[in-house]
Amino acid sequence: MPKLLDTYNRHISYLRISVTDRCNLRCIYCMPKEGLSPIGHDDILRYEEILRVARSAAQKGISKIRVTGGEPLVRRGIIDFIGELNRIPGIADLSITTNGVLLEACAEPLYRAGMRRINISLDTLNPEKYKKITRGGDINSVLVGISKARQAGFAPIKINVVAMRNVNDDEAVEFARLTLDRPVHIRFIEFMPVAGQTLWEEAQFISSEELQERIRAIGTLIPLDADQKAGPAKMFQLEGAQGKLGFITALSNHFCATCNRLRLTADGKLRACLFSDDETDVKPLLRGSCSDDELSRVIDQVIRSKPQRHDIHEATFKKCSRTMSAIGG
Ligand code: GTP
Ligand code: 5AD
Ligand code: SF4
Repeated sequence: MPKLLDTYNRHISYLRISVTDRCNLRCIYCMPKEGLSPIGHDDILRYEEILRVARSAAQKGISKIRVTGGEPLVRRGIIDFIGELNRIPGIADLSITTNGVLLEACAEPLYRAGMRRINISLDTLNPEKYKKITRGGDINSVLVGISKARQAGFAPIKINVVAMRNVNDDEAVEFARLTLDRPVHIRFIEFMPVAGQTLWEEAQFISSEELQERIRAIGTLIPLDADQKAGPAKMFQLEGAQGKLGFITALSNHFCATCNRLRLTADGKLRACLFSDDETDVKPLLRGSCSDDELSRVIDQVIRSKPQRHDIHEATFKKCSRTMSAIGG
């Protein structure tokens, strides 16, 4: 298989595909309360168009695909689409990030379509707080969804917790305890500044280091080697625990030097970095009957343009103009 290398010699092997910017929740750190106009139906890439980009990327050396949103499970036809992704030669690892709300019905069909790895967002264990963070969500649907995912065969199940001071940081230890007798991965994500949420302020940020310090109160945190499929999380295990703990230090300790990712937004923009608004619109190419060679060349160009690192800590940094729901995380 060819190796896709960028200008900084990073091996680009992972494509994150956002299939929709729509969502059945409106998490405070992701979307504004109101006034966000969703991408119009005609501007959303059709599944055939996404598959063309995915096939081209796979031929060039992409071996890992993650399906994201918004909430990917709200898009009609998603299961068949995932079946098609799974048939692309060269794709060895197919995964999805979901809020879990629709998993009760979708977990089994997803597994049958070839999906094997699942990351579920759940930022609190408290039903009232869940309702506040998600602006109206019902935690029970997610808890049932997680249990359906386990029954369907997904393993490990990863839970993503966006850590926010004075919102859910008081639950870090409780979340960590869940790993003691369950094979679950709990991953704390540092709260990142993106467009859409009005909430991000330094005061709400809590570093992974501080969370680790609190969790050490219930046991030793043993660092684990990064496994082959690992994304940006640094992994640990509490002594004697069945599950694992991960920390995604997007801000405090950026992992740009090992970034292997390329993103395709729901409206057909290839994006080389989560935090850079530099995007390449592939929709006109796909709809203008471009050749496979042209598409392949555009993917090369985007990879060549991947910045060395994000500049969040620089004075020149501007919050990205797109919400997380439009980029896909
Ligand atoms: P695994 O392959 O299971 O490790 O998944 P992942 O962690 O790459 O995917 P997931 O969609 O669960 O992302 C978890 C969090 O990591 C989200 O908040 C993402 O926004 C964040 N994340 C993923 N990729 C990047 C990245 O390239 N840069 C930054 N800063 N954050 C990222
Ligand atoms: N900071 C950190 N993580 C975020 N996510 C969405 N918005 C933010 C943000 N501002 C997370 C979701 C999901 C993943 C795809 O991105 O919780 O787990
Ligand atoms: Fe929806 Fe995920 Fe954004 Fe929450 S974080 S509003 S679940 S897309």
